[in-house]
Amino acid sequence: MCGAVPGELERGVTLKTKAELDIMRVAGRHVAEILLELTEAVKPGVTTMALNRIAEEAIRKRKVKSPFLGYQPHRGMPPYPASLCTSVNDEVVHGIPSDKTVLKEGDVIGLDFAIVHEGFVADAAVSLPVGRVSKSIHRMLNVGRQSLLEGIFQTKPSRRINDIGHAVQSYAEKHNYSIVRDYMGHGVGRKMHEPPSVPNYGEPGTGMKLVPGLVLAIEPMLNLGVKETFVAEDGWTVKTADGKLSVHFEHTIAVTEDGPEILTKL
Ligand code: MF3
Ligand code: CO
Repeated sequence: MCGAVPGELERGVTLKTKAELDIMRVAGRHVAEILLELTEAVKPGVTTMALNRIAEEAIRKRKVKSPFLGYQPHRGMPPYPASLCTSVNDEVVHGIPSDKTVLKEGDVIGLDFAIVHEGFVADAAVSLPVGRVSKSIHRMLNVGRQSLLEGIFQTKPSRRINDIGHAVQSYAEKHNYSIVRDYMGHGVGRKMHEPPSVPNYGEPGTGMKLVPGLVLAIEPMLNLGVKETFVAEDGWTVKTADGKLSVHFEHTIAVTEDGPEILTKL
């Protein structure tokens, strides 16, 4: 990310008005409700494509849109072919739903989902156990979920952008998980990815000042082994370099005078 001038807004950062925040609250509720529906569908024997169908049906019924479908961050990358990312076990993020990927007992699946409502995006992700999973997987899911909350607690006026990453990283590393550096959170609004970048690591007290009206997607990715990743043959799926487990949690958060407001919470 670029170095922000203290006290100044970083280039391209948008602050949302009260009316825009009202729209983003509705967008966030759609995401939360659909993720709950998807969560209830996760069980052994279900394919990741079946989960994508549930997501697409919900999108259609609610008359919202997917910012994922056809998404192409830059030319040379294949357009993203689905409305949901399903990342299983050693897949970190951006797993593509497939009829061939059948969930089995003991797996971990990350569901990453976003919608556009009245021109505004809300974005969230959750990692879930499939059926019964080991104690160590439960522990990792708990630490991942909590690391996101530690970041959210910092998402308020008086703090700076890297206070978020510092809190996430300290918590995750204290529990001996590594933090993925190759992907990070982002501003969110009319576009899914807006400045500033929100790394899940960093020096406290540095980076852009957080101000009311700023809306951020915070999304830590924690690995059981090394932090390094690579992109698979399909051009999208990000995997851990060592083949070990990864978990991912994300919320869309508005900075308000009173502190963080989680827009993608039920
Ligand atoms: N939710 C992801 C993010 O925060 C985006 C998924 S990539 C897409 O960056 F291709 F599916 F859109
Ligand atoms: Co995101």
